[in-house]
Amino acid sequence: MIYVLNGPNLRRLGTREPDVYGAETFADLTELCKATGRELGVEVEVRQTDDEATMIGWIHEAADGKIPVVLNPAAFTHYSYGLRDAIAQRTAPLVEVHISNPAAREEFRHNSVVAGVATGTIAGFGLRSYVLALHAIMEMASK
Ligand code: DQA
Repeated sequence: MIYVLNGPNLRRLGTREPDVYGAETFADLTELCKATGRELGVEVEVRQTDDEATMIGWIHEAADGKIPVVLNPAAFTHYSYGLRDAIAQRTAPLVEVHISNPAAREEFRHNSVVAGVATGTIAGFGLRSYVLALHAIMEMASK
């Protein structure tokens, strides 16, 4: 099992700033992740929340279950020390992903408060960022 967890505003993919995040919807993202899971032979559960407490609860759940995570923290990336402290308790790989490349955008997006406790970060490849992260987790698991 791998969790694919998404933070605020990501359910609005497709209508949300399509010039930045593309035309594909959250349903398309969910299907892409599940199809990648089928290819890789692993169950993938995709979730989204706009609520920080809910997201922190899911990270605790993953830590307790030793479940690897692909996480797009969305705006939480840039300010949530609560989320960072939850991720620091992880017991399995956690890959931070971004659809856009935050380093190429506004100044406030250049800092990730979670990057230092993630296994690694994949950003700027559109929805492919998630596919690459799922592959990375499966590769790590096979070593
Ligand atoms: C994002 C980048 C963040 O800066 C932004 O707040 C998001 C989406 C991305 O996937 O590119 O909501 O995480």
